Amino acid sequence: MKMKVLEPIKVGKLTIRNRFLMAPMLTQLSSPDGHTTSRMVEHYRRRAAGGVGAITIEIHFVRDDGKVCYSGHRGESGGLPDIGDDSFIPDVARIAQAIHSEGAVCFLQLGHLGKFGRGEILPAVSESSPPVFTPARLKELSTQEVEDYIQLYVDASFRAKQAGCDGVTIHSSHGFFHMQFMSPHSNLREDKWGKDKMLCAKDTVKRIKTKCGQDFPIVYRVSGDEYYGDLGIDDGYGVEDFKKMVPELVTAGVDMLDVTGGTVDTSKWIIPSGQVQPGCFLHLGAAAKSVTKIPVSCVGRINTPELAEKAIQEGMCDMVVLGRALFADPDFVKKLAEGRPEDIRKCLACNHCINYSKTMVEGSTMGSIVKCAVNAEMGRDEEYAIRPKAKNRRKKVFVAGGGPAGMEAARVAAERGHDVTLFEKSDRLGGQMFEASVPPGKSELINLVEYLTTQMKKLNVKVKLKTPLTEEILKKENPQVLVIATGSRPYKPRIQGLERAVLARDILLGKVKAGQNVVIIGGASVGCETACWLVEQGKNVQIIEILPQICSESPILEKFQMIQRLTGSGVCLNCSTSAMEITEKGVVVEALGEKKIIEADTVIIAAGAVSNKELWSVKGSGFVTEFIARVGDATKPGLIVDAIHEASAVARDF
Ligand SMILES: Cc1cc2nc3c(=O)[nH]c(=O)nc-3n(C[C@H](O)[C@H](O)[C@H](O)COP(=O)(O)O)c2cc1C
Ligand code: SF4
Repeated sequence: MKMKVLEPIKVGKLTIRNRFLMAPMLTQLSSPDGHTTSRMVEHYRRRAAGGVGAITIEIHFVRDDGKVCYSGHRGESGGLPDIGDDSFIPDVARIAQAIHSEGAVCFLQLGHLGKFGRGEILPAVSESSPPVFTPARLKELSTQEVEDYIQLYVDASFRAKQAGCDGVTIHSSHGFFHMQFMSPHSNLREDKWGKDKMLCAKDTVKRIKTKCGQDFPIVYRVSGDEYYGDLGIDDGYGVEDFKKMVPELVTAGVDMLDVTGGTVDTSKWIIPSGQVQPGCFLHLGAAAKSVTKIPVSCVGRINTPELAEKAIQEGMCDMVVLGRALFADPDFVKKLAEGRPEDIRKCLACNHCINYSKTMVEGSTMGSIVKCAVNAEMGRDEEYAIRPKAKNRRKKVFVAGGGPAGMEAARVAAERGHDVTLFEKSDRLGGQMFEASVPPGKSELINLVEYLTTQMKKLNVKVKLKTPLTEEILKKENPQVLVIATGSRPYKPRIQGLERAVLARDILLGKVKAGQNVVIIGGASVGCETACWLVEQGKNVQIIEILPQICSESPILEKFQMIQRLTGSGVCLNCSTSAMEITEKGVVVEALGEKKIIEADTVIIAAGAVSNKELWSVKGSGFVTEFIARVGDATKPGLIVDAIHEASAVARDF
């Protein structure tokens, strides 16, 4: 039976080939001055070719002061898409044409951050409602100025229409401009825009329809809950208020509601990590559907076909919105339609793709173009497309190590037509992903192991378990290519009494049980995640970190949320603190020149990792005839993104 999610749907008079809508996601593939680049066009063409019915093109800013705040260098492109004047029409037209050429339709998202923007003095709905966490100088918009801002959206919509877009999406979610008017927390005005908090939304919709025509579809992207309750703030709106807003939007002329949740202040909800359950906003979609007949789309950690179908079958939404799922695998819908869902490379909700927010906050040069941890092609779809090697140039390739790096190298090499054998010394593929998937919110890391393991079978990679690749095998078999992906092992710091401690890995794999009072030496992500896991089991946990802050290697939002989680659950963070000795009683530490003992029943070491050096010496031996490379942790212990990207690059190099 054909899945309902694959059936066509109408939005206004527009017919869409299936019920999958791609979420708007800023890629930073624009040029620094906000124009479209070829990479950006290819990004959208690739996603349309992957079968999605409709695409919301990432936020295009209607005015400079409403852009996301950056202070640093933006790398090779890293710009913010602009739609503030007519010179941008041909840019958007290039994207729209690419999407149409692959049979999908597109909505251009229009937005302005309002009080969360980047001007020196920010245009605010109300001066007395500043952002909760970021200091900002606000200037309340006059009654006339609000009219002028609405006109920016009307003009931008007309440009989108001229560019050939099938409709526009108003960004009235995540606490942006329009949502600030709808929110009783942000809108404290006394003029007409405050007396009727829906007026800005309604006027915008009506004026766009007047300018662009009644048949020009308007999607209204809206948070169904501000979640201000999370912060102990009680004047935000929630789902019951949202149900009253929906009919007003519909009467104004909205053609589809695109439901999401949260505000910049409650950022955990904007791009929900693995801590948040899949389908987290479906109850908000259902709430909207209970009060309107127009189509409702809904987003939020929907990364499996089963959940997508369930959402439609159970009437929680009419279109399923895929965000990061389409970064991770642009062919999600195509693979489903072709009856091979096992080939879908699922999003892990690891949020590496928002690492560029580090640029926004810290002015760092890091990660200025969006990157997906599991899809090395993302953002460079054309250059990085996997192309087969000519038959007479295909090679005998040996890969040592069956973790993510080894399997990714094997996958790409096999897809290119090489003859690949993968050697793994343990009895299963996946490497450290097993312990990494134990802490709360991390279970979906196993999706990557499942995907890669399936691909090993489908691509006829010869997998040899319980078989370490040795020099003897290499000497005998003489492969042309050797990829060393032998991973890493935990680093054991030189501390007196180390033999009394246990490794985080052994705790997570259940090889050792922790006592009631636990001290973890090492406050990087492994230590912090182990702490979260132990706290859930009712343990008392303290972390010792030599650096001034924990999770220094993590994306900024992850770090922020981790600090909130740990402190909220009573974990004591001892930063700028050195572990000097492990005794029977616990750990002797030194901080600010003072020594003290932190008592513990169990001391856990989570102090990083060192590369395994197996097979390094083979270089120069002549056992491998053409090419040897190291990838992943065997080069330098790092994150999944490093392992996958490095392996993926190396496997294109022979
Ligand atoms: C890298 C990135 C950029 C995003 N940019 C936008 C944006 O331009 N406009 C918007 O409304 N939401 C944006 N979002 C939020 C997504 O549209 C989506 O609501 C969110 O990722 C949750 O959906 P998912 O779980 O399917 O990824 C962005 C998300 C990511 C990961
Ligand atoms: S980086 Fe992680 S969260 Fe982002 S799309 Fe890729 S797998 Fe998903």
